[in-house]
Amino acid sequence: MSDPAPTWADEALPEDSFESVVNRRFGRRSFFKGAAAMGVVAAVPMQLTATCAPTAPAPADLTFLPIAPDATDTITVPKGYRSDVVIAWGDPLFASDGPFDITKQTSAQQARRFGFNSDFVQFLPLPKWGATDYNRALLWNNHEYTDAKMMFPGLDPATYPTLEQTEIELEAHGGTVVELQRNGDRWVAKRGSRFNRRITATTPMRISGPAASDPRVGKTTAGMLNNCGGGLTPWGTILTAEENFNQYFANNAAVADPAVKAAHTRYGIGNGATERRWENHKDRFDLAKAPNEPFKFGWVVEIDPYDPVAKPVKRTALGRLKHEAAASQLTADGRVAVYTGDDERFECLYKFVSSAKVSKDRAANRNLLDDGTLHVARFEDDGSGTWIPVVFGPELQAAGFTSQADVLIRLRDAAAALGGTKMDRPEDVEPSPATKKVYMACTNNTQRGTAGKPGTDAANPRAVNTFGHVIEITEGGGDPAATSFTWDILLLCGDPADPSTYFAGFDKTQVSPISCPDNLSFDRSGNLFIATDGAPSTWNGIFSPAPNDAIHALPVEGARRGQVKQLLSGVVACEVSSLLVADQDRVLFASIQHPGEGSTLASTTSTWPGGTPRPAVVAVTKKGRRIGS
Ligand code: FEO
Ligand code: CA
Ligand code: CA
Ligand code: CA
Repeated sequence: MSDPAPTWADEALPEDSFESVVNRRFGRRSFFKGAAAMGVVAAVPMQLTATCAPTAPAPADLTFLPIAPDATDTITVPKGYRSDVVIAWGDPLFASDGPFDITKQTSAQQARRFGFNSDFVQFLPLPKWGATDYNRALLWNNHEYTDAKMMFPGLDPATYPTLEQTEIELEAHGGTVVELQRNGDRWVAKRGSRFNRRITATTPMRISGPAASDPRVGKTTAGMLNNCGGGLTPWGTILTAEENFNQYFANNAAVADPAVKAAHTRYGIGNGATERRWENHKDRFDLAKAPNEPFKFGWVVEIDPYDPVAKPVKRTALGRLKHEAAASQLTADGRVAVYTGDDERFECLYKFVSSAKVSKDRAANRNLLDDGTLHVARFEDDGSGTWIPVVFGPELQAAGFTSQADVLIRLRDAAAALGGTKMDRPEDVEPSPATKKVYMACTNNTQRGTAGKPGTDAANPRAVNTFGHVIEITEGGGDPAATSFTWDILLLCGDPADPSTYFAGFDKTQVSPISCPDNLSFDRSGNLFIATDGAPSTWNGIFSPAPNDAIHALPVEGARRGQVKQLLSGVVACEVSSLLVADQDRVLFASIQHPGEGSTLASTTSTWPGGTPRPAVVAVTKKGRRIGS
């Protein structure tokens, strides 16, 4: 273990040196001594080696001067950069609607306006998928969930929720397609575009794939819930992933069938009322009346943003989980692999590989995600790994499963029966476009190694993992269809002064603090950008004031592999819930979710983006130059 004394914190440093900007305005407390004394720092895993792929092209240099961690209620970016709000909750999408008035909300209006709590963001060129010379584009954005305290002024807990409040919240979920237009160096939303569309928790949807034939699921449903992360298919459709769907369903105690009740319990559905109490007005959220309704949720949904009337499709072949995201890349023989993590403590990482090849004819890929093989990842302590097929057969039959549909519906139990590795909350998974290596954010797991819980292993090497880590996966033969892989720890996050942190072996005096990696994006040359979801609470007692969630960038190849530098600071009590480097690396989109969370509209801790706190998507630019330069 290195000397914990932070020699650099108290020295006079040049005005714009790395150390100076990182420490500016932040007093660092001696957390690491306490952490080491409590024994929360596990042995450094054996495969912590600063590897470089000799064949990989050099990534573009990340030459920007990092910003300091920041606790202010503004979006902070490096010198020379700017950030602009592209669209915020309540903004109108259609020409006939006026500006948002928070005091005049209706469900019919919310169904026509940008939804609440922005999450996964994606960018697709217009006029069509594959266009390379464009000045118009589509922006997709998830609306993960609602927070009544931050939506309804003067909220009366005695009457909440009224029927209208329930219906407003249903329409504030889902996702948005909005056209963007290039305006000089920037992108602006176009109200009234024929592509503009809302998809909500009531939009009619199709359910397809092996589990659709199971009567518990069926072939249709209304809407999608808690869409967190997502991905893009090689044919230009959106994959949007349902995550914590359990929180919408009440009264599991009233479910008569013990198998159904147990299946719901495994996914965290509670016995009593929900916090939103939609069940007071909508029978489908009351398990006493609709015990099978939750089986229609927890799926990856495919949406064609280029067709404003295309029906969204829930693809059951990708399994039923609390999906964080669904990122794809092509296999060596032209099929598609889709990676998806199950974001809960001690849950697993998955990979679906299609049976058929991706066609250049976009329409021919319409049902590609309905047929293929789902795998769960097993990480061995020696740095090897296996993708275990999650396929109904004698082993799963002996474990109590009755069909592949049953396996997909109760995927968590099937994965556990087959020996999938229980990870520290798999959040985003993202392949590098430069190397095809796959990166997984394990956001945190404060229960790891505690009484009655699984202990550390090489892939989850820290007990009481408060700050999370990032794993690098190299597919066997470099082929995303492989059934074996090797893996390495890229980052063990936290305050670099904490000896349990690791930044791919890079000099820890030259990296920014980072807590709870959540979503990932790459630029074209393979630099990794990471958005976080842990601040400010995980920084309490370490930095004062505790800084906001952030975006960081780092090379994962070359001499500066592991040099994490902070590129953006979010606003008070927000989560930087998604990010995307797009438009030939000239823009960074980011979702700013739940500004002011934990307060109320009457006494809000954030007034971003102006007066009333509103979730929003921002675009970060540098006068048309490359993000990271
Ligand atoms: Fe909605 Fe896993 O974050
Ligand atoms: Ca997330
Ligand atoms: Ca991502
Ligand atoms: Ca998260």
